[in-house]
Amino acid sequence: MSAEFGELHVESVSKRYSGNRRNAPPRLALDSVSFDLSRGGVGVLLGPSGCGKSTLLRMVAGLETISEGRITVSGREVTGPGRDRGMVFQTYTSFPWLTVEENVAYGLRINSSATGRHGGVVDYFLERIGLAPFRKAYPDELSGGMRQRVAIARALANQPDILLMDEPFGALDPETRWQMQELVLGIVHKERMTVLMVTHDIEEAIFMGDRIAFFSHGPGRVRELIEPTFGGDERRLDKAALKAIPDYGVMESRILQMMREEGAAARAQTA
Ligand SMILES: Nc1ncnc2c1ncn2[C@@H]1O[C@H](COP(=O)(O)OP(=O)(O)OP(=O)(O)O)[C@@H](O)[C@H]1O
Ligand SMILES: [Mg+2]
Repeated sequence: MSAEFGELHVESVSKRYSGNRRNAPPRLALDSVSFDLSRGGVGVLLGPSGCGKSTLLRMVAGLETISEGRITVSGREVTGPGRDRGMVFQTYTSFPWLTVEENVAYGLRINSSATGRHGGVVDYFLERIGLAPFRKAYPDELSGGMRQRVAIARALANQPDILLMDEPFGALDPETRWQMQELVLGIVHKERMTVLMVTHDIEEAIFMGDRIAFFSHGPGRVRELIEPTFGGDERRLDKAALKAIPDYGVMESRILQMMREEGAAARAQTA
């Protein structure tokens, strides 16, 4: 296995969208963004609405072309989608006609020419996400949080080099969201999986992230790289432990202030 396994390098990446209207000038959505993660690191993209977070994540996924710069995952340049990258979208993306276990196994089936003996992997992840008793259920028989767990298990079961998640817990109630954050952190740490995720939520960013890229309003640039190293492992034990650390409050206030500044600047730009 190469030394670069699980590493992400985003090197001076820009994104220009061509306008929909005829003769509309191209719009710069991202401006020379760089960001690196080593194996097992959790990277968070945080910033005001429209700053290009989803655009960057989709470029890493290979779902969006790169206008300038380059992105590598495990040392390979991204030129399109690939099974080395697992994507979890904000909206639930389970297949309604498949049961929970069939959904989790889905990627395995289409990504492998093997004879379908994936039971062990599927069982393992169903167990980890707490949905083993619901394996025969269909998505419309599950709650939103359970469906999102199915989507996450499906991405994990493919054992990607990097897990990409766009506001994966955005639609969940606070209690479920909290549980899901702890669950996903537990799994990715055990598997030493690299994660890149998008969130609007400052608390989520500090809890989950080893490295947070805070974006300025559009065109998105990395305004600041933040590494919440305080509290050691205690920070990751649970949310209550995190919030009890005084440095947590300091970092949260600082990010909130940046969020306000960028929001005000974005409003002034469009006024
Ligand atoms: N397909 C597209 N065509 C043209 N412009 C686009 C396209 N997708 C996104 N954009 C523009 O690129 C910019 C960044 O969009 P993006 O969806 O990446 O933002 P975001 O940070 O994810 O925002 P949010 O927090 O609201 O999800 C926005 O100005 C958006 O209008
Ligand atoms: Mg987005």
